[in-house]
Amino acid sequence: MKAGIYLSPKQVKMTEREMPVPRPDEALIKVSYAGICGTDMMIYHGLHPRAEAPLILGHEFSGIVAASDGDRVNKGDRVVVEPLLNCGFCAPCREGQAHVCKSLRYIGIDQNGGFAEYTTVPLHRLRVLPESVTEKMGAMIEPLAVAIHTVRRSKLKVGDTAAILGAGPIGLLIGLIAERAGAGKIVISDVSPVRLQAASKMGFEAVDARKTDISQVVKEYTDGCGADVVYEVAGNQTTADQMIECVKHQGEIAVVSVYKKPPVIQLAAMHFREISLMTTRCYSPGDFTKAIELLEQNKLNLDPLVSHTLPLEDIQTGFNLMENPDQALKILFKL
Ligand SMILES: NC(=O)c1ccc[n+]([C@@H]2O[C@H](COP(=O)([O-])OP(=O)(O)OC[C@H]3O[C@@H](n4cnc5c(N)ncnc54)[C@H](O)[C@@H]3O)[C@@H](O)[C@H]2O)c1
Ligand SMILES: [Zn+2]
Ligand SMILES: [Zn+2]
Repeated sequence: MKAGIYLSPKQVKMTEREMPVPRPDEALIKVSYAGICGTDMMIYHGLHPRAEAPLILGHEFSGIVAASDGDRVNKGDRVVVEPLLNCGFCAPCREGQAHVCKSLRYIGIDQNGGFAEYTTVPLHRLRVLPESVTEKMGAMIEPLAVAIHTVRRSKLKVGDTAAILGAGPIGLLIGLIAERAGAGKIVISDVSPVRLQAASKMGFEAVDARKTDISQVVKEYTDGCGADVVYEVAGNQTTADQMIECVKHQGEIAVVSVYKKPPVIQLAAMHFREISLMTTRCYSPGDFTKAIELLEQNKLNLDPLVSHTLPLEDIQTGFNLMENPDQALKILFKL
């Protein structure tokens, strides 16, 4: 079978691999669509603490059951993969918070994933797609669940002003979910014209951070106060400073970004205005269910997020495109 493999830093390649053989508690999945994520880029640059080459990447993917014992799923079922593998033994797992498991692992990061014609997936990590959800949109469920988890964890209330720093796939998805959660005004910043254009197209107030300070824009809308909730989804020192400038007194900052370099956080500036800061990590099983349901109900248009659909043969092109925010948003491989 064809497989897209991370070989070494800045080197990915499509090669032939043996078909995997499922264990009794796994199904063989014929992959349909698989997305490249920021974490895949971290692995690609050799910066991921756990991923080890050679590895079949891909943790955002949909497919069709090709073989399965038992009656949990049937051959031909269209499925999406929930890629988290928790240990089941640590305190967070025992408290029902598997997504913050002390040794959380991912399909596609810690073991082979979905950039391949076929892969094996534990049965309990499969969700059958509703008829109305295409396999292409199935590959968007995982990042959508991140956005749902973030907005649900935040204190956003009906009519609130939300500021989103970073209009990558995750920032834009947070915008869509904040809108459905009843946000009044949604202001989103980026430094990439392509991403700003996508944000405007999706109906958000897009601020070009190269020219305009988002905190000034937000303050104009809020009587000089700032946003009720700020979502930090860019992950650099500039946005780590802006998130505090942007937020209202007693407002909340939700840090979604995974910082490559530890930022300096101006705690004194937060203290004087009683700002809350919280972080988010992936999603709970319930968030994943809600992501599927929102797509089933046709409540979201995710089409503007998919900038490229490529064959797996173009894996290196896909990773090259992802290097520059101005070249791509979400890239999907069609297997
Ligand atoms: N918490 C989680 O579980 C979770 C899950 C997925 C992704 N993430 C993290 O969320 C972040 C966003 O993910 P993504 O896939 O959208 O990444 P991305 O890199 O596509 O998006 C980040 C965006 O920030 C923009 N940016 C850079 N500097 C900026 C500035 N000064 N002002 C405004 N925007 C600026 C970039 O142009 C880019 O569009 C990443 O750090 C990623 O690791 C976290
Ligand atoms: Zn991801
Ligand atoms: Zn655990």
